[in-house]
Amino acid sequence: MASNRAATKGKFADGLAVERETFANLMLTPESRALQHIFLAERATSKIPDVPADTAQRTIKSVAVIGAGTMGGGIAMNFLNAGIPVRMLEMKQEALDRGIATIRKNYESQLKKGKLKQDKYDQRMALLSTTLSYDELGDADLVIEAVFEEIGVKEAVFKELDRVMKPGAILASNTSTLDLNRIAAFTQRPEDVVGLHFFSPANVMKLLEVVRGAKTSKEVLATVMTLAKKIKKTAVVSGVCDGFIGNRMIEQYGRQGGFLLDEGCTPEQVDKALEKFGFAMGPFRMGDLAGNDIGWAIRKRRYQQHPDMKYSKTADLLCEKGRFGQKVGKGWYDYVEGKRDAIPNAEVVAMIEEHRKALGITPRKISDEEIVQRLVFSLVNEAAHILEEGIASKASDIDIVYIFGYGFPPFRGGPMKYADEVGLFNVVQAMRRFAQNPLDDATFWEPAPLLAKLAAAGKTFN
Ligand SMILES: NC(=O)c1ccc[n+]([C@@H]2O[C@H](COP(=O)([O-])OP(=O)(O)OC[C@H]3O[C@@H](n4cnc5c(N)ncnc54)[C@H](O)[C@@H]3O)[C@@H](O)[C@H]2O)c1
Repeated sequence: MASNRAATKGKFADGLAVERETFANLMLTPESRALQHIFLAERATSKIPDVPADTAQRTIKSVAVIGAGTMGGGIAMNFLNAGIPVRMLEMKQEALDRGIATIRKNYESQLKKGKLKQDKYDQRMALLSTTLSYDELGDADLVIEAVFEEIGVKEAVFKELDRVMKPGAILASNTSTLDLNRIAAFTQRPEDVVGLHFFSPANVMKLLEVVRGAKTSKEVLATVMTLAKKIKKTAVVSGVCDGFIGNRMIEQYGRQGGFLLDEGCTPEQVDKALEKFGFAMGPFRMGDLAGNDIGWAIRKRRYQQHPDMKYSKTADLLCEKGRFGQKVGKGWYDYVEGKRDAIPNAEVVAMIEEHRKALGITPRKISDEEIVQRLVFSLVNEAAHILEEGIASKASDIDIVYIFGYGFPPFRGGPMKYADEVGLFNVVQAMRRFAQNPLDDATFWEPAPLLAKLAAAGKTFN
């Protein structure tokens, strides 16, 4: 009986007893353990093993942002919202005007919804200034670069920053995939260079991956971790590797999604299974939101770097049709302008079927359980490598990345906590089963040494 009913229908004391029992039962559920885990994990992200709490920090009173595109604009808004002045630099006035217009539009939509007051809006816009010249940036305490994702462009920008920025300024890059150590080496002060990997939309998403280069100083690291709190981000430190923590894991998840289509699923079936598990959205809706062309560009690079790595070609076929996702109104699904509903498209389903036939695959019915396990355990196995390589310093950091950046259900506690709850022995058994599937990638499913070791010892990640 519900405790309020017990208290009103019977004696008050009986109601209290029911309440106490209900509370005790709830406290023992995996959901309760997961939420307590996140509470503690979020607070633990700022504890970096070799950076003591009393590490000296720099003062950040002004920020410069290079590039006023999708990310630059959103990044700037974070600082304006916190009352920190921002100066944006672009190569052309038109690009600056476009960037400023987008920021205005964003704030005006908040004004209309009553989420922002006029005086706050005016204050924030007054903190924003622009320039076309590096020579006007030198005084900023922190500069964040968000220009095109090309190493040559980053090189030109960082050489300029090294020339103009005052001593002690922090030089940050928002790169998603490039080697931060290479970027740092374009300057004479690699100790001042750090990655600040914001997620899109940068003014909304809570997660910030702080990328620690081989030479990034502890002072710089401590400063940006404190600054992250000021702009209301949850920051997790990642070492340097391709994709850092979050995107390196998501690549494996995406690969499994592709195999599932080849073996007999529709995008809708995969997405629904993940959403039923609790994800904010499944992998194909997420691809449509992020832009399928981004994954395509990464895969093209992989085909050259790792020609032996197994990939489903279905997502490439989709991109060849220009179905890049929500931004063009069509991807794995169709979209109506102004709405986010994903409408299944018969041509896409037919395209998947044709490709399957061309590969000579007889489709099979795949259970939701298998879909969820393959996708979630692919995250877990890659994460175990990440942990072992020291890219993440603790398992709970990885959970936070997934909860705050990738829509992983909080009541499951993140991929590592979820694996702990399932039992690492069971996770490894499942991986060995998946490795038997000739249409999957047996090499990938070889459990990471750390995972195998913990499972054998009956231990957990967290
Ligand atoms: N879009 C995302 O989802 C996302 C997420 C995280 C990180 N990133 C990273 O952020 C960076 C920017 O991505 P974006 O999506 O905002 O790109 P974008 O194309 O929207 O914006 C890039 C902007 O940089 C400007 N620019 C290019 N070269 C420049 C230069 N030399 N000097 C000054 N300005 C220059 C361009 O005019 C453009 O306005 C990339 O490194 C990208 O990998 C993107």
